[in-house]
Amino acid sequence: MDDKVTAVLAAYHERMRQEREERHDRHAPHRAGDWRDRQLLAVGPDTGRLINILARSLPAPAILELGTSYGYSGIWLAEAARATGGRLITMEKEEYKSAHAREMATKAGLADHVEFKVGDAVAMIAALPVKLDFVLVDLWKDLYLPCLEAFLPKLNGGAIVVADNMLRPGGEDVQRYARALRATAGMSSVLLPVGTGIEVSRYEP
Ligand SMILES: C[S@@+](CC[C@H](N)C(=O)[O-])C[C@H]1O[C@@H](n2cnc3c(N)ncnc32)[C@H](O)[C@@H]1O
Repeated sequence: MDDKVTAVLAAYHERMRQEREERHDRHAPHRAGDWRDRQLLAVGPDTGRLINILARSLPAPAILELGTSYGYSGIWLAEAARATGGRLITMEKEEYKSAHAREMATKAGLADHVEFKVGDAVAMIAALPVKLDFVLVDLWKDLYLPCLEAFLPKLNGGAIVVADNMLRPGGEDVQRYARALRATAGMSSVLLPVGTGIEVSRYEP
C-alpha cells in the first residue's frame, strides 16, 4: 500500500468509527429516512485486506464488484488491480454514491484502474463484454442469487467469488445464495468468520 492509498483507507476508517458512535448515541437522528443510504455499509478492514490478498494472487484479474456504495471495498480491489495489471469494474445503483467512490479512488491515485458503472447490477452483468476472474458480491441480499445466476456464465476457470454479510445479518436470501453455490458443478466454497462472515468460492468448471 502506498501513502495515498493508506491515507484514503484511514479516512474511511475514521468515518466508520463516527458511524459506529452515531449508532450508539440514543439522541442521534439515526435510522430516520434515508439512514441506510447515508452509511458506508462497508466490508470493514479484515475483509478488505482479505479480498486484496486474494485478488492480488491472480494474474491481471478482471475484477467485478457488485455494490460500490461509497467506495471502501473498491479501494482494496483497485489497489490489487493496479498491483497485478488487472482492472476493476464496480457497479452501484445510486449515482451519488458512485461519484463519491470515484472521488476517493482519484485521491488514492487508483481511478485509472477502475470503471464505475451506475444502474441495476443484474442487468449490467448480463451486458458485460468481459470474462471475470474475481467477483465481490456485496449489494442488497435479495440480489445475491440473481447476480450469481447472471455472472456464473462469465467466470473464467480459477475465478474467485467472495460474498459478504453471510453471518451478519445473514438470513434466508444469503442462505439461498450459499445453497445455489454449493450445488454448482465445479464450485468449491467455504464460509469464513471474517468481518460479518464471508463465503469464499473458487470456480473450476
Ligand atoms: C453493502 S453496500 C456495499 C458496500 C461496499 N461494497 C463497501 O464495502 O464499501 C450495498 C450497496 O449495493 C447497492 N445496490 C443495491 N441494489 C443494487 C442494484 N440492483 N444494483 C447495483 N447496486 C445496488 C446499494 O445502493 C448499496 O450502496
